[in-house]
Amino acid sequence: MTIIQSVLGIETSCDETGIAVYEGVGGIKSQCVYSQFELHSHYGGVVPELASRDHIRKISPLVQQTLDDAGTSVDSLDGVAYTSGPGLIGALMVGAAFGRSLAWSLDVPAIGVHHMEAHLLAPLLTESKPSLPFVALLVSGGHTLLVLVENIGSYHLLGQTLDDAVGEAFDKTAKLLGLDYPGGPEISRAAERGDPQKFSFPRPMTNRPGLDFSFSGLKTAVKNVVESSSTLSSQFTADIAASFEQAIAETLIVKCKRALNQTKAQTLVLSGGVAANRTLRNHMKRLDCQVLYPPMDLCTDNGAMIAFAGYQRLNAGYREPLSISSQARWNIESLKGL
Ligand code: KG4
Ligand code: ZN
Repeated sequence: MTIIQSVLGIETSCDETGIAVYEGVGGIKSQCVYSQFELHSHYGGVVPELASRDHIRKISPLVQQTLDDAGTSVDSLDGVAYTSGPGLIGALMVGAAFGRSLAWSLDVPAIGVHHMEAHLLAPLLTESKPSLPFVALLVSGGHTLLVLVENIGSYHLLGQTLDDAVGEAFDKTAKLLGLDYPGGPEISRAAERGDPQKFSFPRPMTNRPGLDFSFSGLKTAVKNVVESSSTLSSQFTADIAASFEQAIAETLIVKCKRALNQTKAQTLVLSGGVAANRTLRNHMKRLDCQVLYPPMDLCTDNGAMIAFAGYQRLNAGYREPLSISSQARWNIESLKGL
């Protein structure tokens, strides 16, 4: 079987266009990410149709820029990897159509990558690689997952959110408080001046067994407090932000502890946009295990993780047919091992 060296990665599952070139020898050669957050900020969340259109606008120039930054050209690529799910179907279709067609025109193989598998493998791109098996907590605007990574291609879903993702809860709570989008960093900033004990918000689903999450009730609890107050003073906002952050961090820690006990894993990897949260990181220090945080550009949506996951699968012999495949939903446990 031909060894695949150089892979172009294309990520378009949500509101970031991420492109990267990954090589077997040398690792990430270059990566570019264009975030659409300004486009969506006006709406307080991602508008799927606008996301698709913006990916169409950006994908081609961004691929060119990434190749230029790597000092290479399309002719040197041995394969193309694109996110084929899960995610926003229109946004996925843009990356899949572009990636599949590019691979066909270059006569190289293409591979559709599972977005979550790429997130789970991203820590292996860092110098302080976690040893297998490890537990990953993925917390972003679109996902909240606890997964046992046993091996590349072998994942056991331990728990997931039944409603809002953690980042989504931050964004919606920020909106209730009149703060900007994305809400996570805004809540964090406000929380610095607040009292985390001022309001006792629920720690959802911590008083019953299991590893699933639910954050919509927490958001409603905040809403009730906000609506019962006549004004939103800056101190009131700060106290709500701090108490909300505390509730989230304590909830996540309870579930992480349970996951580590259940799996006997020694390492926890925290990833996704919410991994930037300082209160959460401080709470993580209390865990009796190694806790790793990939650098933020590998934690959030990016093309490098797609290129890397694609590289692994292409070299294991996986190939895609000529059809363009995207799926909005895709169970990670259905993936086959390498
Ligand atoms: O992984 P990400 O950049 O994008 C996707 O969701 O795909 O995550 C974005 C999410 C947003 O919901 C944002 O509010 C949240 O991560 N976030 C934070 C912080 N920084 C970003 N949440 C809490 N604290 C932060 N410091
Ligand atoms: Zn993601």
